[in-house]
Amino acid sequence: MRAASWLTRLLCGSGHRFDSRRFESARWEGLMSEIISRFKALRIIPVAVLERTTDAMPLADALVAGGLPCIEIVLRSSKAIDAIHMTSLRKDILVGAGTVLTIDQVKAAMDAGARFVVSPGFNPKTAEYCVQHQIVHIPGVCTPTEIEAALELGLRVLKFFPAEACGGVNTLTAISSPYSQVAFIPTGGIHNGNLARYLQLSSVLACGGTWIAKSELIRSGRFDSILNITRNAVAIANDGVPTD
Ligand code: 3PG
Repeated sequence: MRAASWLTRLLCGSGHRFDSRRFESARWEGLMSEIISRFKALRIIPVAVLERTTDAMPLADALVAGGLPCIEIVLRSSKAIDAIHMTSLRKDILVGAGTVLTIDQVKAAMDAGARFVVSPGFNPKTAEYCVQHQIVHIPGVCTPTEIEAALELGLRVLKFFPAEACGGVNTLTAISSPYSQVAFIPTGGIHNGNLARYLQLSSVLACGGTWIAKSELIRSGRFDSILNITRNAVAIANDGVPTD
């Protein structure tokens, strides 16, 4: 057996109860590697609620222009699946689905073209389905028990949610220390003012949140404001300081 890559070790360390041969799939490892590497490079995952499909392309344009070619479109509106489909046809942005609560929603998101799915909590049924079908899934956790349930399935990239309400950087520092094999994506209450504190933690792969593309800005078509917030966030991720 060839040596496991850093990504294989990160995402599917030994001890999980599924057939490890599945994880030797070059296709799966390649897909995981590409997406996790993108998160690692971008360090921010913009989360958006899209109430109109006509907002999807201008939003994607603003994120790409601002240096964040990634979007998690949450399944909290009737237009989300159409928006995922439209944006996933673009080659210049990585598109995923958020607020994925059921297996049916996983299927709908993947059929629409999502490259990854994110959930607010750890749902064993959804998580097992994603593992079995080699779907990049990032479940939410905020307790050691949930982290260990995810580890049991071989999942090593976890959303820490709701980050600020659960104690923020202090809690994440404490909760991550026994789990050095886990890379966290803190989400919930993050903004350009506290972003750098999270990104400084070695346990943090990237931060997620709606602060980049707030619903009111999308609703009112203020994509220039989204572009400015995006640029500032990228500057913080790169240098730890905003541009203004
Ligand atoms: C999510 O769907 O991941 C959360 O709503 C993001 O939390 P935030 O709105 O506080 O960024």
